[in-house]
Amino acid sequence: MAILPILTAPHPILEAKAREVAADEFGEDLVKLLDDMAETMYDAPGVGLAAPQVGDGRRIVCIDSGEDGGSGLLKMANPTITQRSKETITWEETCLSVPDVEVKVSRNKRITVTWQDALTGEPRSQEFQNFEAVIVQHELDHLIGTVLLDRVSRFKRSRYLQKEKKRRRSVKKDEASVPAK
Ligand code: NI
Repeated sequence: MAILPILTAPHPILEAKAREVAADEFGEDLVKLLDDMAETMYDAPGVGLAAPQVGDGRRIVCIDSGEDGGSGLLKMANPTITQRSKETITWEETCLSVPDVEVKVSRNKRITVTWQDALTGEPRSQEFQNFEAVIVQHELDHLIGTVLLDRVSRFKRSRYLQKEKKRRRSVKKDEASVPAK
């Protein structure tokens, strides 16, 4: 397993719509990608990760709320929400791709999700509520190119973009100071 670099917004892959995992892509390679994504998520640490966040533009997510009595680690290919409760829940959300930003988002309190098993492509279905439902909805936003940055005020957005620019400049400087071999 490997820890993958996490892309931060703004980035074209984060803004693009992810594509379906094709029938011939299920198998060991997809399982390995999901294992790496899970390891990356735990290392961050985070409670969910979508493939575009690690530069793969396909409909793949993993989640683990870490809650007692929760579902544990779930790895989903081609997840779709098939049912949503009218009742909503508001959560202060964060995102590994938008560091240091918190934003209150209103989500459906209960959802039913169908997806495919990464190894076999077999269909799966499960109902989620509260925190897990929030995580799944957040991760599925990534698959349509929506990140938390799209949900913040213009002020917060421009402050984030300035900080991010500065961060990227200092990363470049660090790289430049590494002696070439
Ligand atoms: Ni996110």
